[in-house]
Formats: sequence, structure tokens, C-alpha cells
Amino acid sequence: MIKYFKPSVFILSIIPFVLIVYKIFYNKLGPEPVKEITHFTGEWTLIFICLTLAMTPLKRFTNLIIWIKIRRMLGLFVFFYATLHLFTYVGIDYRFEWQPIFDDVVKKKYVFIGFAAWLLLIPLATTSSQKMIKILKQNWKKLHKLIYVIAVFGSLHYIWLSKTIFFKPLIYSLIIILLLLLRLRFKKTT
Ligand code: HEM
Repeated sequence: MIKYFKPSVFILSIIPFVLIVYKIFYNKLGPEPVKEITHFTGEWTLIFICLTLAMTPLKRFTNLIIWIKIRRMLGLFVFFYATLHLFTYVGIDYRFEWQPIFDDVVKKKYVFIGFAAWLLLIPLATTSSQKMIKILKQNWKKLHKLIYVIAVFGSLHYIWLSKTIFFKPLIYSLIIILLLLLRLRFKKTT
């Protein structure tokens, strides 16, 4: 049973991607297709950040190592959806026109912090292999703590870009704060 768990989580994790590809090919994105793809990929990036952060508390609550076995894969999905999200913005929205993109990054704080979050994901994604865990040893754990910073940047990005609707960004931020507090609590008791 356990051997099917990881592949099942993998299949579930690519469903949002399949869904957005389906919507693109069958013209089901609504009146603002680029906005729809940006929102969809952005939200799924945040969902995968929350799922990745939830694995350690889940392991502590259930005493099952299985959660840790899928944590790295979920982290890679964060990078995958964040890169799709960035590509939508850079490639589809701005058609690789670097000057206005650069202006956005320096002028709009939500773009700046989103971009910073994506940059911080690069060292995590490139060191996610078993080989890199062995090479980096204790430093691997230290480096991968960057996911906490990424989570905070991601929620700030969502709060700052939402001019009127604050409910969803607030919910995600509360979930992220809760997950980070749970870690602190476990650290104190262990
Ligand atoms: C970890 C990284 C990131 C996360 C978690 C994230 C998350 C999100 C979320 C949740 C949304 C709103 C979705 C909705 O409205 O339902 C969003 C929108 C957006 N994001 Fe990101 N994002 C990230 C990185 C980036 C990067 C790197 C860029 C570009 C440089 C970017 C540019 C945008 C833009 C332009 C929007 C749409 C703003 C609008 O509605 O006008 N994001 N993002």
C-alpha cells in the first residue's frame, strides 16, 4: 500500500497542470485568459508551499515517516508551479520584454517579493537530489529552511497584490503562520 502512496501523490500533484493545459487547449479560460493562468498557477504555488510545510507537523502528529518521503517531491512542485507562474508573467503577459519586466520588479513591491521568492526557490530545487543531501550534509537542512522565508514572501506577495479582496490572502497567511508556529512548538518540545 505504502509503495503506491508516493506515485499517487505525484499524479494528484500534476492534476492542476493537466487542468490548466486542458483549459488552454479547449478555450475555457474565460474573458481574461492570461489573468486566469496567472491566478491559477500563483494559487497552486501557494497551496504546494502550505502542503510542503505541513509534512513535518503531520509526521510528528501521526508518527509516520511517509509524510517526510513525499516532502521533497511537494517542494519540487512548488518550484514547478512557481516557474509556470513566472513564465506566464514573463513570457505570455510581457512576451519577454525585459525593460517593463525590470520596471515592474523595481517599482511594484508585490512583483519584487514574488520574484525574490522564486529566486530563493532555485537553490532548493537544484539541491533537492539524494546526491546533494549527501554532499551538503547538515548544511542541506540549513539551506532548506529557506522554505520558511519563501512561504512568508509568497503570502506577502498575495496580500500586496490584492487591492480589494483580502479574504483569501489572509486565509493563506494564517495557514502559513500556523504551520510555522507548529514547527517552533515541536522544536521546543524535542
Ligand atoms: C513563490 C512565489 C510566488 C507565489 C507563491 C505567488 C503567488 C501568487 C498568488 C497566490 C497570486 C494570486 C492568485 C489569485 O488571484 O488567485 C499571484 C498573482 C500574481 N503573481 Fe505571483 N507568486 C509567486 C511568484 C511570482 C513571480 C516570480 C512573479 C513575477 C515576477 C509573480 C507575479 C504575479 C502577478 C503579475 C500576479 C497577478 C496580479 C494581478 O492580479 O494583477 N508572482 N501570485
